[in-house]
Amino acid sequence: MVADSDREFSRSLGAVGDVTRHQVEDDGGTDGGTFGRAAQAVSAGTDPIEAARWVVAAMTPDERLWCLDGDSPFWAGLEDLGTGGYHKRPFPAARVERLGMPGFAFSDGPRGVVIGPATCFPVSMARGATWDIDLEERIGEAIGRELRAVGATLYGGVCVNVLRHPAWGRAQETYGEDPNHVGELAAALTRGVQRHAMACVKHLACNSMENARFVVDVTVDEVSLHEVFLPQFRRVVDEGVAAVMSAYNSVNGHWCGENGTLLSDILRDEWGFEGFVISDWIFGIRDAVASVAAGLDVEMPYRMIRTQDLPGALERHEVSWDDVDRSVTRLVATLLRFHDVLGSPRPGPELLACRQHKALAREAAAKSVVLLRNEPVASTPVLPLDQATVRRMAVIGRLAAVRNLGDGGSSDVWTPTVVSAVDGLAAELPSCDVVYIDGADLEASADVAAKSDVALIVVGYTREDEGEYIGGDTMAHLAELFPGPDDPELAQRFITSVATEPRLETSPTVPNVEPLGFSTGGDRRSLRLHVQDEALIEAVARVNPRTIVAIVAGSAVIVSAWAHRVPAIVQSWYAGMEGGSGLADVLLGNVDAGGHLPFTVPIDEAHLPSFERDADAATYDSWHGWWLFERDGNAPAFPFGFGLSYTTFESEGFAAALEGDDLVVRGRVHNMGPRRGTDVVQVYGAHESWAASHRPARRLLGFARVEIDARDHADVVIRIPLARLAVRDGDRRCWITEPGTYLLDIGRHADDRAAKRLVVDVTPGTELRHDGSNKPVNG
Ligand code: BGC
Repeated sequence: MVADSDREFSRSLGAVGDVTRHQVEDDGGTDGGTFGRAAQAVSAGTDPIEAARWVVAAMTPDERLWCLDGDSPFWAGLEDLGTGGYHKRPFPAARVERLGMPGFAFSDGPRGVVIGPATCFPVSMARGATWDIDLEERIGEAIGRELRAVGATLYGGVCVNVLRHPAWGRAQETYGEDPNHVGELAAALTRGVQRHAMACVKHLACNSMENARFVVDVTVDEVSLHEVFLPQFRRVVDEGVAAVMSAYNSVNGHWCGENGTLLSDILRDEWGFEGFVISDWIFGIRDAVASVAAGLDVEMPYRMIRTQDLPGALERHEVSWDDVDRSVTRLVATLLRFHDVLGSPRPGPELLACRQHKALAREAAAKSVVLLRNEPVASTPVLPLDQATVRRMAVIGRLAAVRNLGDGGSSDVWTPTVVSAVDGLAAELPSCDVVYIDGADLEASADVAAKSDVALIVVGYTREDEGEYIGGDTMAHLAELFPGPDDPELAQRFITSVATEPRLETSPTVPNVEPLGFSTGGDRRSLRLHVQDEALIEAVARVNPRTIVAIVAGSAVIVSAWAHRVPAIVQSWYAGMEGGSGLADVLLGNVDAGGHLPFTVPIDEAHLPSFERDADAATYDSWHGWWLFERDGNAPAFPFGFGLSYTTFESEGFAAALEGDDLVVRGRVHNMGPRRGTDVVQVYGAHESWAASHRPARRLLGFARVEIDARDHADVVIRIPLARLAVRDGDRRCWITEPGTYLLDIGRHADDRAAKRLVVDVTPGTELRHDGSNKPVNG
């Protein structure tokens, strides 16, 4: 029997507006029509491109154009967005029922599936802090299954723009500042999702600021583009991702949705990408002809610019049918390639936020907690808490007891239940008095803290401080891109709805959950805590020596003003629906503090690259994150890769050897302490000539996360593809692996003075060049 809420949820997944134009006159057959026959041929071994050509040949001109944008008409779609339809149902595109072609149905991420009462995982940045590839792949699997349960087939939650500056409003949606680290996690997510659905990686490229995203032109040189801003996209393309979403901003003077260098020369010709490219939403392309010529396949999410302009442009020969067919063929070939995956039975709604997925969310929340500071009080580190002696615990701060899952824009997940920090601790400490106070009254808070054995302060940000941003002066200008109303009555209704309720509201399908509205945060205004939060820390720390601060944020927070006042600090993120339980697991020592920072925390804002919230032009170079700190000799407050554990580790016998196309690092890690713990072994490396060159002196080449029982050991093997040592030759536009001596540092973070140095000779006398397939070729 289907519960009423399930039935209502299933009904809400319907389509918007007239999407039936091509759902008539079935071309017959019981074998799924032309598309079905092509899919069978692909299953039997036919090349998907060849099979796609048959399908395209069977399409009418109208159907081929239909495949080049979203299926819903523009004004009906916009009205739906403005009146609560966002995140209620997938965005459909390229469905041609006459030929049995399903098209695709898009749903956002990355912290889960944004439609329906889905599992809310910790944000990607938190998952980046786990450095746990296997976990990310399992999260991908869970998301892939939930995606199918809500009727979607394309997951838009693989966000890999590197964190260039911690103020970036959507920092939480990516995994960190380092392209290799980001690439490995995103590849794992993609692998997991694509066992059940298609994945889409975004936003190509250089989309690392929010408020200015619709206007900013990013100037970036060839070397920085390829070595810093693209490797993680390439990694996901190599993993076989189905789709790529272009960014809103422009790169080197060309809007990303119309940028042939990015979408064709690099993505397809150099990397060999075989999937399809979609635009970012509504303002992702401005010129229909230029977008087709550049290699953008599908304009999303509605019939907007192309519907208006392409028929005329075809008549005037500004664009050819060959260009159109090229895009449609790529799209159809990808759908054919994924036909068997998408043909698996669709799970029911009971899968959403099911017990197993909640357990996975809790595992991720616990593994993501980064222990930044843990000083002794009366000769014992404050954490983990001694459950035998803690009788009364003060939990302080407004963020300790609210639903605070992160961004309220495209990544918002309407999960049915949320365990706050207070809930999580109270559940795990049944014989302890867990006392909550919101922290607004400093004196009252200090009073509660003074009467407690330990005080936990939960501070940081919400979607009001950081997140996706739609608004400001540019919107009026961008509205000029809207097509003339196809239905004047609808257009008028939309304008009225926006005038009365200016924010797009996400609409929960979950009872008792109030819509919070679209994020207002955008890029952060400050990298420090709110003044009242810093005052709260001062007031509480003054009266309770066992004060722990948990920081909720999507990226780095500067703690210089108050860190020395408290013995313990953890970064606990927007940690998902089970965040409070995961935090309790770590604070109580049921799980080791095993998270490691996926970014550098500065002592001072001045140590960061420039960041202008409202810029219309910006220059991106190779200098951000730990590379910049290393170049400038600035000590970070906490380096990239850093995280304390409740135990200690020692490394033994690390060595590196060339094995085929890989450099392989092997060694043993001993857990020296009396409890199980997590270590993350990190390999940083460089050609010996890099230190004197203009490029970052070292790179993160590989890493391995190991969990080791008390006083036991683990053998670690880290495989580094030689391609990862390659540098971009900006003049010849190719990759070169320079022969000679490479220096490898095997350490526990980017600034680890105790790192072990290995010296490796790589193919002396031979230059290794990398072709498009990423295999080294001599020459
Ligand atoms: C965001 C994308 C998102 C899309 C659809 C855009 O505003 O930039 O990341 O996938 O909306 O919601």
